[in-house]
Amino acid sequence: MYRMAFIGCGSMAGFIDSVFEGHPSVILPYSHAAAADSHPEIELAACADPSFEQLKRFGEKYRIPEERRYADFHAMLSEVKPDLVSVATPTEVHADATVAAARAGAKGIYCEKPMAPSLADADRMISACDDHGAKLVIAHPRRWNMHTRRIAQLLREGEIGRVTDLVGFSRGHLLGSGAHMFDTLRMFAGDAPAMWVVATLDEEPGPGRDPGGSGMVVFQNGIKAFVAASPGKAHLFEIEAAGTDGVIRSFNNGASHLLRKKAPPDEWPPLQEAPFPEPEKESGTVRALSDLIRAVETGETPPSDGRGGRATLELVVAFHLSHLQGKVRLDLPLSDTAYRIG
Ligand SMILES: NC(=O)c1ccc[n+]([C@@H]2O[C@H](COP(=O)([O-])OP(=O)(O)OC[C@H]3O[C@@H](n4cnc5c(N)ncnc54)[C@H](O)[C@@H]3O)[C@@H](O)[C@H]2O)c1
Repeated sequence: MYRMAFIGCGSMAGFIDSVFEGHPSVILPYSHAAAADSHPEIELAACADPSFEQLKRFGEKYRIPEERRYADFHAMLSEVKPDLVSVATPTEVHADATVAAARAGAKGIYCEKPMAPSLADADRMISACDDHGAKLVIAHPRRWNMHTRRIAQLLREGEIGRVTDLVGFSRGHLLGSGAHMFDTLRMFAGDAPAMWVVATLDEEPGPGRDPGGSGMVVFQNGIKAFVAASPGKAHLFEIEAAGTDGVIRSFNNGASHLLRKKAPPDEWPPLQEAPFPEPEKESGTVRALSDLIRAVETGETPPSDGRGGRATLELVVAFHLSHLQGKVRLDLPLSDTAYRIG
């Protein structure tokens, strides 16, 4: 059994599940603790949160005794020495919590998205995990969502021919919820490295601000991704993947999907609806924790590891820097790792 400790005891750590009850694409459990609690190889060992109310609520719900509830995660890590650590704090705490967990000897760390507010913080997290032999997974949940995985598989297998373009709409700020969009676009582009971006933000960025924005990412394999992610948009989260032989559209935060393919043999064939192959139902978070454990046991790189989380963060930072430099084309990799969002 792996003993798991929790840094941050709020919504994503243990209470968000009710939000997704009945959602056609999110199979519960979704929160870290609910998934860990249902995982046959994980035991819930301890929790830390500076908020007494959150600690109490979380401890009671997940049967963690009072003596293993901590206000300070450093004290928890040094006393409990957990095998696995969940990090579900506000984003600005992710790097300190992950670095401390790796130094305390955790073998696996499951850290919420977005990875960090700056690439320098992401680099600290990657180095600490490398130096101390910890496996790091960044919790971009669509990496394990059954429908998103099925779409990625269809794209890989050439179901719509050669993928040429991706278009993503999302409601929300570029880093906070846009990170989901950028990561899913990377997944649908086959995780090819991004070559350049050009973008404009909805408002000027600055301390405490995470503006929405729009722009384009060009990947090294030629796929172009167009992003429109702003608070107030009608779309909750929708992506269309277009290829040489068809398109796949995901609607309403993955609630339904449409596959359309060229209907031969017309010279100008229209797109005709084809059955979308439904995947087997499974909890993405439970699967993510299993992938983390497998990585710990085998030494393999898990899906959505620290370098993957950093590549997603780099796209958000690149949108900011493109805007700030006059809405210009910006080549990647970025040399400015100090730029901080929010
Ligand atoms: N994957 C998703 O679908 C999803 C959904 C919501 C939030 N998130 C991400 O999860 C993270 C947490 O968001 P949330 O909605 O759960 O927020 P939340 O405010 O509900 O919970 C955060 C908790 O962290 C605690 N905290 C703050 N500083 C801490 C510290 N130094 N040590 C330990 N605990 C500390 C707070 O007291 C709070 O209880 C964010 O990074 C957010 O982007 C992801």
